[in-house]
Amino acid sequence: MNVIEITNLHFHYPDGSAALRDISFTIPEGECVALIGPNGAGKSTLLLHLNGLLPESPNNHSAVRILGQPATAANLPSIRCQVGLLFQDPDDQLFCPTVLEDVSFGPEQLGLPPADITARVRESLDRVGLAGFESRAPHHLSGGEKRRVCLAGVLACQGSILVLDEPTSDLDPRGRREFKHLLQSLPVTKIIATHDLELVAQLCSRAILLDNGVIVADGPALDLLSNEPLMLEHGLEKPHLLQHHPPHTGHSHSRPPEHSGA
Ligand SMILES: Nc1ncnc2c1ncn2[C@@H]1O[C@H](COP(=O)(O)OP(=O)(O)O)[C@@H](O)[C@H]1O
Ligand SMILES: [Mg+2]
Repeated sequence: MNVIEITNLHFHYPDGSAALRDISFTIPEGECVALIGPNGAGKSTLLLHLNGLLPESPNNHSAVRILGQPATAANLPSIRCQVGLLFQDPDDQLFCPTVLEDVSFGPEQLGLPPADITARVRESLDRVGLAGFESRAPHHLSGGEKRRVCLAGVLACQGSILVLDEPTSDLDPRGRREFKHLLQSLPVTKIIATHDLELVAQLCSRAILLDNGVIVADGPALDLLSNEPLMLEHGLEKPHLLQHHPPHTGHSHSRPPEHSGA
């Protein structure tokens, strides 16, 4: 089953700049997909569409389907329960005085009984290795700890799709390694926008390359990453990890700019 279906999605910001142009792809349940591309490519804009965080534009409704449901205003509450989004900056996500309150916020919005909320919060803090952090102030934690609090908050909602915007950009090597193992252990569908191409190589079976609001390639992650000319053309580089990987085998679907997406 395709849990995410995007069909001919276009998006302009109110100032008129076209951020997404004719985006189409599907993601089957359980897949871990990287969204790569240079700054300004439209990665964050695309991720925000997955849980309806952008102002409506004329074709959003028909263009975005999550778990089979079109992203209409009426469906957004249930879509937001299913899609957990981690913002690029944890400080945009954490706003409560304590870790406990922050992680409880999502399950409280779901209207669960207090005992269930307590159980979910404990379980998700355990899962991210932050048991005992309940009374700490999120804004006093390290970058890696903040990331994990955000993830705990999303896990406590028990959605089936995890959307991450540059989750390792501010982490040190150990923080990155730990976060990667954590993501690897989560049996949900994941879509990860990132410049961390080693993370992509290690975690994602598939990559979608976005540039200037258009999908320019979509295929097996290792094929895209090892395609040096493609990487360089779009402001990226072949990761060191793959320096000895045989050149790209041609399986990825490079798309000409005029691709209709149909
Ligand atoms: N709030 C906004 N208002 C107007 N333009 C925006 C806004 N956010 C992003 N953009 C523009 O949309 C394009 C895509 O941005 P973004 O989705 O942030 O790309 P990425 O995440 O790949 O760096 C860029 O040209 C950016 O300048
Ligand atoms: Mg971004």
